[in-house]
Amino acid sequence: MSASFDARELRQVLGAFVTGVTVITTVDAQGRPHGLTVNSFSSVSLDPPLILWSQSLTAPSHPVFRDAERFAVNILADDQVAVSNQFARGNADKFAGCATDPGLGGVPLIRGSAAWLECKRMDAFRGGDHMVFLGQVERIERTGRQPLVFGGGRYLVAQPHDLGSVLTDSGPNIARLQAVRVATRALVELSDELDETLGLGVWGNHGPTIVRWEESRQPVSDNLRTGLVLPVLTSATGLAFAAWLPQELTGPFIAAEAASRSEANQVPDSDGLAQRLAAIRGQGYVRLVGIDDFSELYGGSISALSVPVFDPDGAMVLALTAIGASDRLDTSEAGKVLGGMRRCAETLTQRLRGSPAPSQP
Ligand SMILES: Cc1cc2nc3c(=O)[nH]c(=O)nc-3n(C[C@H](O)[C@H](O)[C@H](O)COP(=O)(O)O)c2cc1C
Repeated sequence: MSASFDARELRQVLGAFVTGVTVITTVDAQGRPHGLTVNSFSSVSLDPPLILWSQSLTAPSHPVFRDAERFAVNILADDQVAVSNQFARGNADKFAGCATDPGLGGVPLIRGSAAWLECKRMDAFRGGDHMVFLGQVERIERTGRQPLVFGGGRYLVAQPHDLGSVLTDSGPNIARLQAVRVATRALVELSDELDETLGLGVWGNHGPTIVRWEESRQPVSDNLRTGLVLPVLTSATGLAFAAWLPQELTGPFIAAEAASRSEANQVPDSDGLAQRLAAIRGQGYVRLVGIDDFSELYGGSISALSVPVFDPDGAMVLALTAIGASDRLDTSEAGKVLGGMRRCAETLTQRLRGSPAPSQP
């Protein structure tokens, strides 16, 4: 029976199954080290301890692994993307610059990995265009390093799944942490979809603070850093918090900013500010166009949009902010950027509330 899908479709479907990333290493009869990046690794049995992985029959290193008595599984840590790429490249001097320690039988163990399994080859059998290797685990070790993750054809990092009762059971700080975690994932997806630089702002001890940036393919600046504290009155993120957080919280920061601006004669009058914040609440987002205040940071005039995300008590917990060069960022009401951000903020608010996310159009 011929399959109703092609190899590309099959690869895409298999990519929905997220895995860790390993480098399988061995030594040949001459004592030369070999290794390749592998995500087909899987546990098989606890008693006896067995694992498996499979290798393409066309991989240049296949004859070496076919004949090797032993191999080691190096489970890569999340800061070892370069190691993964190096061992996935054919013809490369794979061990160049890669620190290893000798394991059982002289098989190299890659330093900095999250964990290691040293194995004796138990069996090998063909599965289509691959050879499946079954290994008996003889020695194991793990470190506290976080594992590298691979799914959908890209590298990922592992984070605990954090929705559920935790949110309602714990205090505001935990709730905010959870909100940042959930929103970080959404931010990555939205930035990919819109190809815009997005930031995630929280109200920190020093006022509006960006805790995550997700860059567009045309970065706004090399200076974007997490922990960046923004002014309340002249940044989109700051104005969003000023509009939706209680005045007791934002008032002292606004007063301090006003005092430092008084010399420059830029004090906003309080009625004018109250009206402006009411207008922001009315429209549901902040829009700043052609701002030069941050030219030192961004190297030119920028525009920004910011939308609020609310916690289950209805308090603003996060600001979702887009920034871009004034002549590039589409800040229009009906534009794709604002539309995507509002949808994302609404979905996050609902998820934090524990209700299912609405289906996306
Ligand atoms: C994340 C990732 C997972 C991979 N998994 C496998 C795998 O399970 N089996 C395999 O044969 N090749 C896999 N590869 C491809 C090999 O690493 C690549 O073909 C490598 O060059 C083979 O080594 P060699 O050229 O020294 O034989 C993977 C590559 C990446 C980036």
